[in-house]
Amino acid sequence: RLMTYYECAMMEVETKFRVLDAEFGLQHDRNPIESIKSRLKSTDSLAKKLVRKGFPMSVDSIEENIYDVAGVRVVCTFPEDMFSLAESLLSQDDVQLIERRDYVASPKPSGYRSLHLIIEVPIFLEHEKRSVKVEVQLRTISMNFWASLEHQLRYKKELPEEETAAVAAELADLAETAADLDRRMQALRNYLDDGEE
Ligand code: GTP
Ligand code: MG
Repeated sequence: RLMTYYECAMMEVETKFRVLDAEFGLQHDRNPIESIKSRLKSTDSLAKKLVRKGFPMSVDSIEENIYDVAGVRVVCTFPEDMFSLAESLLSQDDVQLIERRDYVASPKPSGYRSLHLIIEVPIFLEHEKRSVKVEVQLRTISMNFWASLEHQLRYKKELPEEETAAVAAELADLAETAADLDRRMQALRNYLDDGEE
């Protein structure tokens, strides 16, 4: 039952983004969202995460301690779109912000960039209303490209320690290249937008 609640909350959040995308399209004649992907954590990785973090193994414990059972990944065209979508979402009166992590302003040591939001949204059931947590990851195409490939390569094979370090350094450097691509695309976008007014 709990997993169904998470699935419903995920659909609610996905719909919110689709609405924002459509409305933005009307206003600006282009769509800020490239794609949306949602996923529910499997019960297997849920159990593993509870053990790993030392939380009790119960349904209540999941609701209380695990914030990424429902995940919505929103891939945006330009970095500024990510932040304006996040702002629009958070200004909605049924969305409550639990946690915000800006890995664009402060990338992870790996080079990972994204804006992570943990939010709570209401779902309306037959006899009650429940608040459910959803993890939202906002990224650009370029950030998503890097994160997908880094994820693939990370688990590739056992390498000697120094080679692992060299690979990590190369990946971190590639993340800078990806970020540079975003900055230049955004600058070009802004230049063209200015020309239109
Ligand atoms: P978890 O306990 O794993 O959820 O970590 P956390 O609570 O500290 O959350 P964090 O903000 O690190 O976000 C975790 C999620 O972000 C992961 O499930 C990935 O989807 C993504 N992520 C974080 N760091 C990286 C990274 O270095 N590379 C890639 N490819 N993805 C990352
Ligand atoms: Mg997490």
